[in-house]
Amino acid sequence: MNAIRILALGDIVGRSGRHIVRDRLSHLVTMHSVDLVIANGENAAHGRGITKEVAKELFSYGIHVITTGNHIWRFKDIISMLTLEERLLRPANFPPGSEGSGHCIVRVKDFPICVINLQGRIYMRAIDCPFRKFDEIYERVQSEACIIIIDFHAEATSEKKAMGWYVDGRASALFGTHTHVQTADETILPGGTAYITDIGMTGAQDSVIGMDKEKSIKNFLLHSYESHEVAQGLATICGILLEIGCDGKAKKIERINCS
Ligand SMILES: [Fe+2]
Repeated sequence: MNAIRILALGDIVGRSGRHIVRDRLSHLVTMHSVDLVIANGENAAHGRGITKEVAKELFSYGIHVITTGNHIWRFKDIISMLTLEERLLRPANFPPGSEGSGHCIVRVKDFPICVINLQGRIYMRAIDCPFRKFDEIYERVQSEACIIIIDFHAEATSEKKAMGWYVDGRASALFGTHTHVQTADETILPGGTAYITDIGMTGAQDSVIGMDKEKSIKNFLLHSYESHEVAQGLATICGILLEIGCDGKAKKIERINCS
C-alpha cells in the first residue's frame, strides 16, 4: 500500500450533526476511498457531551475512532465506555488517574496508526501540558506506529499553530477542533506534517456554532442566559481528507465542506 486515506470530521453537534453523518458518511468514504474515519464527538449529545448510546450510534455509521474534549464528563454514563472502548478517546493531557485513554493504535489494512487526542490550555480549564504529553506518548508509540494523527481540541489559534510546528516531522497530521469554524490554512509543514488550525463543525448550517441562533442572539443582546438548544435544518459536514504515506509523511490535506 502506498498511502492511507483518512477522513477527519469536525465536532458533530447534536442530532443535526449525527443525522448528516448517518446520511452522507458512507458516500464520502466510497467517493474518496477512505481507509479510516476519525470524528470529534464531544458535542454529539444535545450539543454538549456524549453518551454511551450516542457513541455507539456514531460507531455504527462507520466512524472508527471518536475523539472528544472539554465536555467529555457531562454525561456520566460515558465513563464506563471510556474504560472499555479503546477507540473512544478523551484528551490525553487530563490529569493522571482520569478514566479512559488519550490515544489508541488502530490497524488499517494491517498498518498501525496512532490517534492522539490533546486539549489546549488557553481560555480553557487548566490541565496538564499538551506539548509535554505529546512528547511522552510519542516516545512510547513511535516504534509501534509510524503514522500518528492528532486532534488538538483547543480555543486559541496561537496554541494550535505552535503545536503544529512542535510536532512537525514527528506526527503525520495535526488538526484542530473545538471552535467549530473551519479555517483555510491547511498545509503540509516542512517536516511532512499536515496541519490545519480548525476543521470546522458537522451540524446545522444556519446556527451559531451548531446551536439555535435566536437563543444565542438573545443571550448576547440581553445579557441573559437562555439555555442553548441544538439548531435544526440543513446540516453541513466539515472536515479534512488526509493522504499519508507509509513512511508517516503527509502527501495531501484537503478540506471537506458539504451539505
Ligand atoms: Fe470543545
